[in-house]
Amino acid sequence: MPETRIVHAADDEMKDAVRAACALLRAGEIAALPTETVYGLAADALNPAAVAKVFAAKQRPSFDPLIVHIASRGDLKTVAIVPDDIVETVNQLTTAFWPGPLTLILPKHPDVPDLVTSGLSTVAVRQSAHPVFRAINKELGKPIAAPSANRFGRISPTSASAVMKELGGRIPLIVDAGACSEGVESTIISIEPRAGKKPVFHLHRAGPVTKEQLQDYGKVEKVREKPGDLPHAPGQLPSHYAPLTPLVLLEKPEDFKPEPGKKYGLLSYRGEDDGAYITLHDWETVESLSPGSGKLAEAAIRLFFVMRLLDEAGLDAIIAEPVSETGLGVAIMDRLRRASANR
Ligand code: TXA
Ligand code: MG
Repeated sequence: MPETRIVHAADDEMKDAVRAACALLRAGEIAALPTETVYGLAADALNPAAVAKVFAAKQRPSFDPLIVHIASRGDLKTVAIVPDDIVETVNQLTTAFWPGPLTLILPKHPDVPDLVTSGLSTVAVRQSAHPVFRAINKELGKPIAAPSANRFGRISPTSASAVMKELGGRIPLIVDAGACSEGVESTIISIEPRAGKKPVFHLHRAGPVTKEQLQDYGKVEKVREKPGDLPHAPGQLPSHYAPLTPLVLLEKPEDFKPEPGKKYGLLSYRGEDDGAYITLHDWETVESLSPGSGKLAEAAIRLFFVMRLLDEAGLDAIIAEPVSETGLGVAIMDRLRRASANR
């Protein structure tokens, strides 16, 4: 693989960046692209040979299906077949949340290669709100398959430099549009219709579109994960988003039992001195998700960035403080739990 090229997509350079990405994607190549959630590793979703390169670059097992991104709501019918009994709900959800960080699992259109969906009869679809991604998707005129642009099981990248660390030398191009504005991956749901009642939304992955927001349109139920089962969203393995340094989610400060001579860093929520976590130990380093304010939106944007900083700090372990588990906090705690799961 040749060197990984980075092209910038700031206003005056956007056209060139779009052209460079589309040229590669048309030629059956892959490229890392910015979305509002995290950077994605893109391929023409209708070209199985290109999609295979995504799995290879990420070292992703082929049982873990990819999300398909479409340029407009009208394109949904080209990748999914929406059953009559959920048409109205799909219209409501896509009107409310697209373009944006909501992924819908729907019966797949036969044109979508089995490799994309790992042989499932369903396909995961979303329309990204990122202006650069949208421009590339539109110009390409094809759906784009794109998982997060990290190696399998590792921390999702929210900047071009993070993509470079994950996949540098393994992919030809990264389109750099700065930091992602959401910071955690899209919310994933499937829809179960109920006669005469609002539908049930099965929540496969918590994300920026919160349970509270979805409740206006249906009843939200978290999908239960049974040990030993093939995961319902196959990428949702218990251990995921993991730094190389062990990460411990410390639900209660009193449970901290440091070992002598070991270096510990704190992944703090607000970074304030009065927090029981800050004063708990003489930390090697402290990084805060939302310094001072404790705003969950800021915490989400900074989560993977801060996890990376701590991972690179030469620690024996990262100790993570919980955030309040409401709204976006549900997605943040989900990522912290998976990052701390035994490997
Ligand atoms: O925000 C996002 O969703 C980002 C950006 C790039 O769009 N993408 C992303 O992709 O997070 P990825 O591959 O890292 O996560 C996709 C998740 C995986 O857990 C996968 O198992 C699940 O979606 N998934 C994909 N297709 C599915 C299907 N048909 N049924 C159930 N789960 C599915
Ligand atoms: Mg991922």
